[in-house]
Amino acid sequence: METIFDLKGLRDAVSGWRNECNSIALVPTMGNLHLGHLSLIEGANNRADRTAVSIFVNPIQFGQGEDYELYPSTLEQDLDILRDANVDLVFAPNLEELYPAGIEADTRITVPDISDILCGEFRPGHFSGVATVVMKLFLNVQPDYAFFGEKDYQQTLVIKRMVSDLLLPVEILTLPIVREKNGLAMSSRNGYLNEPQKQLSSEIYKALEKAATMMKVGPSSFEEIEKNSADLLEELGFKVEYFSIRRRRDLKLAADAVDKSLIILVAAWIGDTRLIDNLQVDL
Ligand code: PAJ
Repeated sequence: METIFDLKGLRDAVSGWRNECNSIALVPTMGNLHLGHLSLIEGANNRADRTAVSIFVNPIQFGQGEDYELYPSTLEQDLDILRDANVDLVFAPNLEELYPAGIEADTRITVPDISDILCGEFRPGHFSGVATVVMKLFLNVQPDYAFFGEKDYQQTLVIKRMVSDLLLPVEILTLPIVREKNGLAMSSRNGYLNEPQKQLSSEIYKALEKAATMMKVGPSSFEEIEKNSADLLEELGFKVEYFSIRRRRDLKLAADAVDKSLIILVAAWIGDTRLIDNLQVDL
């Protein structure tokens, strides 16, 4: 496995692969790897001749007062994991490498509509930060495939829209959420939780499952289910940003009895930790 910190090294490595006619899959991450990331790497290994993983905690996707400074950085441990996972190349640039003009004056990619709702409403600029860094990675790795997790479902739609609008020759592949035994979606942010909070966190998935059952059996309206679910989580001690039933294809509001291919999305705080999760529902 090659570990590369600079763009020139990255470009040289991938052009060597291209010359050998190898297909390339990219898995972008912010490090502190867990089994959710590993499922994407396995998908990438199965799909392409070569797998590249990026590790970069991207400052411009964090808002003011968010956890950029606290975000866990575990590079040595991550590299051991990636070596065992048969990754070909790890790209772990520093800030200056990806943002030569600094993070304030940088050119940004903005993906309309989908970036402004749900998480975008509560984290203004977040998806523009994500789209910008992913674009930089796509331009320099030029992957045939890129893998993203459905844990961040809205992020997958932002990236797909960017790829479609900018005519990028990369196929976006998504894989299901990997969960802890108690149902909690794996996330680097779970490390912020103390023991009681960890136990409480399992209620998010339970609330999603309960809402899915209610959608299937009726007679409650989607609006009632959203409200009951959010209230339930609030009573348990969460601060709920949204608990929302949406159309899976574009995350627009779902109409009862019309839309069948749905997703329930939730963002909620436990103490100082923001957690997101979702559950796909077919009616
Ligand atoms: P990060 O949170 O490190 O996640 C990297 C990838 O792993 C994302 O595609 C995310 O959806 C996926 N992932 C995280 N937890 C998962 C889980 N429990 N099951 C399945 N997949 C999971 O998402 C980012 O980084 C950044 O926004 C990034 C795309 C790297 C841009 O900076």
